[in-house]
Amino acid sequence: MTVTTPILPALPTSPVTLTAPALVAPNLIIGDAAIEVNGLERKFGDFVAVDRIQFRVEHGEVFGFLGPNGAGKSTTIKMLCTLLKPTAGAARVNSFDVATEPGRVRESIGIIFQDYSLDDRITALENLRFHCMIYHVPRRERETRIREMLEMVNLTDRANDRVRQFSGGMKRRLEIARGLLHHPAVLFLDEPTVGLDPQTRQNIWEHIHELRKREGITIFMTTHYMDEAENCDRIAIIDHAHVIALDTPAVLKANVGGDVVRVRTADNARALEALITDFGLAPIEENGTIRFEVTAGDAFVPQLITRLPVTVQSVDIARPTLNDVFLDLTGRAIREEGAEGNSRLRDALRRRGGRA
Ligand SMILES: Nc1ncnc2c1ncn2[C@@H]1O[C@H](COP(=O)(O)OP(=O)(O)O)[C@@H](O)[C@H]1O
Ligand SMILES: [Mg+2]
Repeated sequence: MTVTTPILPALPTSPVTLTAPALVAPNLIIGDAAIEVNGLERKFGDFVAVDRIQFRVEHGEVFGFLGPNGAGKSTTIKMLCTLLKPTAGAARVNSFDVATEPGRVRESIGIIFQDYSLDDRITALENLRFHCMIYHVPRRERETRIREMLEMVNLTDRANDRVRQFSGGMKRRLEIARGLLHHPAVLFLDEPTVGLDPQTRQNIWEHIHELRKREGITIFMTTHYMDEAENCDRIAIIDHAHVIALDTPAVLKANVGGDVVRVRTADNARALEALITDFGLAPIEENGTIRFEVTAGDAFVPQLITRLPVTVQSVDIARPTLNDVFLDLTGRAIREEGAEGNSRLRDALRRRGGRA
């Protein structure tokens, strides 16, 4: 039997110690960052794919690397997973140096690549058992851990089916289960939802959030989907090999220049005057509607309604999106192959009364 797996086995060092249930990943080293990147660079010949980037990811964070195709996301992830050598700079994962301690890095991480890396000629269970073997998951722990992970990704009843029969979403979920078998402290996912339909993408995200809650691990993922980046605690925006912004989605959007608020009132002339003199804003009136920008629209509106000396008839707050952020930083929009799908997802969720 030939099993294709690009996940490199850890070098033969001390076996990973497992404690179940794992509320805190056993490989976690308290007091250090989960990932620390310092001047990391990768050149291919003269071409600079990743240009001296710098950032830090804390334990337990869902950290997103957002950028268009060719920005340098996969190259970065490969360096952090020790699959590609940096040409300059340094990085530590779980406090292990990617250049000098690649074995320690590998045994403390899980990797999910953009392209499926399961053996589709064998069953889900066989794929998972093989992974346990190459990662030295102690024999007595294997079946329990496999069962636990299959349950988490809702594949228990498909365990004995060949992977060939699985949909893209099921394969992805199985890969997430596989990536977690050896209790990694950091899970790397390279564009985990690319090519999946909108409902499946949403479902994958639910699994990612659940596993963070259950396993207490750090997640580092790349995406070029703006709406998905909203799921991350913090985002590094990468463009042409450089990290051009790094913060929470909320702060990144707040930097765009605030929310756009539109109000209709019973007396626009008085409202305009009050907005200028009492609130210090710069409102304009367009077609019977007053428009202005504030930093946090939802916090501002209750004040507005109480303090404005005229009746507010309607309020509309429009938030800048991450698309606005990217546009603001680069002067161009990220081309999203999934853009149409995203709006379909939002519509579908809205119909179901779910979160968009
Ligand atoms: N092995 C390689 N040899 C030469 N160029 C490469 C190689 N791998 C990636 N690149 C180039 O580096 C840039 C960044 O690639 P990549 O990290 O895959 O981007 P992303 O994952 O953000 O789409 C691209 O221009 C790509 O063509
Ligand atoms: Mg890529």
